[in-house]
Amino acid sequence: MKTAITELFGIEHPIIQGGMHYVGFAEMAAAVSNAGGLGLITGLTQRTPELLAKEIARCHEMTDKPFGVNLTFLPTFSAPPYPEYIAAIREGGIRIVETAGRSPEQYMPTLKAAGIKVIHKCTSVRHSLKAEQIGCDAVSVDGFECGGHPGEDDMPNMILLPRAAEELKIPFVASGGMADARSLVAALAMGAAGMNMGTRFIATKEAPVHQNVKDALVKATELDTRLVMRALRNTERVLNNKGVEQLLEIERAKGKQLKIEDIHDQVAGVYPKVMIDGDMDAGAWSCGMVAGLIHDIPTVKELIDRIMADAERIIRQRLTGFLDDAGKRPVAARAIA
Ligand SMILES: Cc1cc2nc3c(=O)[nH]c(=O)nc-3n(C[C@H](O)[C@H](O)[C@H](O)COP(=O)(O)O)c2cc1C
Repeated sequence: MKTAITELFGIEHPIIQGGMHYVGFAEMAAAVSNAGGLGLITGLTQRTPELLAKEIARCHEMTDKPFGVNLTFLPTFSAPPYPEYIAAIREGGIRIVETAGRSPEQYMPTLKAAGIKVIHKCTSVRHSLKAEQIGCDAVSVDGFECGGHPGEDDMPNMILLPRAAEELKIPFVASGGMADARSLVAALAMGAAGMNMGTRFIATKEAPVHQNVKDALVKATELDTRLVMRALRNTERVLNNKGVEQLLEIERAKGKQLKIEDIHDQVAGVYPKVMIDGDMDAGAWSCGMVAGLIHDIPTVKELIDRIMADAERIIRQRLTGFLDDAGKRPVAARAIA
């Protein structure tokens, strides 16, 4: 399949693996890129720019396909040295960066001077337009369904994607709630040039996380995520667990007076406990509503091949079937999901 996104990034399929803290290691990014998508190493999971440089080098050994690095600008307990991280990215020969959180405006001259293509993840049309205006090559439009930080507008992709299509000149991918061929075809129908998946890629054989995490995603339904940190205007969608229930209890008690220190134990240092140790009650870790659509743990290649084959069937049979052969019952979407 050829779209503006496959052309822009030189990839075979219009599928991106979004940056994911403690998931986006070289193994994850290389598996996605080797399967024809765009894999991303998560920059800040590497505690120093030197460690990021090593992770990039490791990924180069695992794939000769294009892969990128995610650089997230979110409120953290201590600000990372972004210019040094960007130097590691540039010197590692990376030509694609996914930025997220705050606007990457101040770093755009450096990124562009290094010949790096920037895809910025946005949760609103206004932020997408700003990204276009500051010279981003593409945006990843992240709806309210998404795992991670959906912003504060609570705008689902059914509205956000067509609105983005109405306003943007640069290409965009749909992000949040994307799981399978139905997601991809729907995203394309709404004007996107591909899709970005986070949560779905965690439930794959190659995802370098504890088996408990993958099993929890297969078991979870679309009702099992919670929104936390709204009072801090840093809303995050996470998988519910005992730590998250404690966090919500604290949030209820503190109301608008909530401070990040109040929930330190439920949000800080949780990722290694969950992703490495498999402690599923440790606290808040990002997870999308799309968990309800995850029923198996395939290899990344099986997942991507299945998506692309099913997408072709949905387009050629189900969709054109509505037009070409009105008498014939179209293939049910569920049967090819
Ligand atoms: C476990 C996990 C960790 C994530 N960490 C980051 C991150 O560090 N930076 C970032 O920009 N996005 C992060 N995200 C968001 C994803 O890149 C992606 O935008 C999101 O998962 C899309 O929604 P989906 O989960 O419904 O596919 C994370 C998502 C998950 C599930």
